[in-house]
Amino acid sequence: EKAGYKHFMAKEIAEQPVVIADALRHYTTRDGAINLPESLDFSTVDRVTLVACGTAHYACHVAKYWFEQIAGLPADIDIASEFRYREPPLLPGAVAIFVSQSGETADTLAALRYAKGKVGKVLSVVNVPTSSIARESDLALPILAGVEVGVASTKAFTCQLTVLALLALKAGRDRGRLGPDELAQHLNGLRALPGLMNHALGLSGDVARIAEDLARSEDVLFLGRGAMYPLALEGALKLKEISYIHAEGYASGELKHGPIALIDDTVPVIVLAPRDALFDKTVSNMQEVMARHGRVLLVSDATGLAEAGAGVWRGLALPECPSLFAPILYAVPAQLLAYHTAIAKGTDVDQPRNLAKSVTVE
Ligand code: F6R
Repeated sequence: EKAGYKHFMAKEIAEQPVVIADALRHYTTRDGAINLPESLDFSTVDRVTLVACGTAHYACHVAKYWFEQIAGLPADIDIASEFRYREPPLLPGAVAIFVSQSGETADTLAALRYAKGKVGKVLSVVNVPTSSIARESDLALPILAGVEVGVASTKAFTCQLTVLALLALKAGRDRGRLGPDELAQHLNGLRALPGLMNHALGLSGDVARIAEDLARSEDVLFLGRGAMYPLALEGALKLKEISYIHAEGYASGELKHGPIALIDDTVPVIVLAPRDALFDKTVSNMQEVMARHGRVLLVSDATGLAEAGAGVWRGLALPECPSLFAPILYAVPAQLLAYHTAIAKGTDVDQPRNLAKSVTVE
């Protein structure tokens, strides 16, 4: 059932181009329109609240940037365990979105039950369409990732992102923020992702060599700006989960507010920097790290590496990608780094210690 792969995680990382293409086919029409229920109308919505745990929460965090940028819609994110006990005020103009691979996460389910009846609509983005979270929501959108066995979530994350991106595009359209041409351009950008991810998967050998060194570190930092900030958080979570190396993700701009104190020549700093409007800002933070002898792994595209790669410890060149959807593509090297580092350390990739695939108790 591992289809020739050593681990479920490796198989699930490799499946991403196929399952994302499936999800895109499911949620778009042949003539290139978004195929989401018209009953889900964002034109009168005044707020989106996205709630989840762990990796699914980081998918929500990326989606916050999309709802704000694409649809001009205020978006809040929360961790389900905080949301459920904080009992935040919710208004009928809001849509609440609960994201869960298993659809059985206890805190996320409790958060959904709290929101029900208080917001205009309860939406779920799930991998298991028969799950409790799917059944109890007003509308459940399956992410179509297929069964995910590896405890560390990989393909579910990028499929969650894909469905959330389509929701943000629909919101942009419903609210008159996106004209037909712009919408078509964004959908083409999404459709390009499976091909770009195949290219990123081809970097596996390079990543494995970098991972040999990463495996000897005790602490690793991930940095990103904009929607790459939640990707930095996800990269760090994945690395600590399966390699047991302490890792933290930070917004690049936060570096000088504390974490820069950690930098020395033993701490690898992984900088996730697609060539977007914030590239120069991220590069200047990276240079501050290098000035303190930090060992930088710069993940960008070939032009980004040519422009800013002088003096970095290692570089990884991804294909160029529409910057809005870069978090989906950059998830691949983040996953591969965690996977190969765990392999280099000899840890149990599919069954990391202390973790369960489905967290049905709080
Ligand atoms: C990390 C991971 C967990 C889950 C979290 C939520 O790799 O898998 O952080 O994302 O436990 O699980 P679901 O999505 O099933 O609600």
